[in-house]
Amino acid sequence: MSKPIPLGASYESPQYWMIVPAAGSGSRMRADKPKQYLTINHKTILEHTLERLLLLPGLFGVVVLVSPDDPFWSQLDIMRHPKIVVREGGKERSDSVLNGLTFLRDRVQQDDWILVHDAARPCVDLQDIENLVLTLQTHPVGGILGSPVADTIKYVDADGSIEQTLDRETLWRAYTPQMFRYGVLISSLQSALTAGETITDEASAVELAGYAPIMVEGRSDNIKVTRPEDLPLAALLLERQEHRSNGSADNRS
Ligand code: CTP
Ligand code: MG
Repeated sequence: MSKPIPLGASYESPQYWMIVPAAGSGSRMRADKPKQYLTINHKTILEHTLERLLLLPGLFGVVVLVSPDDPFWSQLDIMRHPKIVVREGGKERSDSVLNGLTFLRDRVQQDDWILVHDAARPCVDLQDIENLVLTLQTHPVGGILGSPVADTIKYVDADGSIEQTLDRETLWRAYTPQMFRYGVLISSLQSALTAGETITDEASAVELAGYAPIMVEGRSDNIKVTRPEDLPLAALLLERQEHRSNGSADNRS
């Protein structure tokens, strides 16, 4: 990853901010520390993610949310990067994102863009982020990166019996970044949390508020490192991407 990629046509207005929730405990990973601090090729997953995002030169800043009792963040050199601000995360991912949005309240305009990207997605492709930004440039609400599902999807009841096969043609996986106008995102998230909704991504809050965010197709290897078996996969992807950005032929999957 060496070539910087510009964000929108203008860096002045609207502004682009990144919010990176990194306050989870990584329970499904079952490791001795939160998964964002596990090391792949001599760097923590969080550093891989942040270093990549910081190659977007149009970014005004990056708000990283970490757990209040996180002993690891302060050990990372990247914490001193001039574009990075750290704040405390919350109980759920959506609480962490809301803390980031609250920090930005007096620093942004209502129509500035907020890109929320999981700390646990270090393999995101910068060209995909550029495509997301360009696609949504004039959109009043925003949208997300995703990809059509490749597998047949079953609806399974609590006893483990298959009840139904869903129509794959209309199903997409939701990734991050998820990019929304500041005003739309904070009001949608606040309403959803006040209503007691479980919100696992920004788009679902925005949908509940009655908007129709745009789905922008991205690479399917934008994986969220979640379970132990994802670690070697992420290592392989990062290694291949590094190789590619050093001048080898593109190898899109
Ligand atoms: N996250 C956060 N605050 C929380 C929970 C999650 O900032 N209270 C972050 C995680 O650090 C991660 C991203 O949100 O970067 C996506 O969440 P997920 O993959 O679910 O991570 P964890 O919650 O840490 O993992 P698990 O659900 O397995 O415990
Ligand atoms: Mg979680």
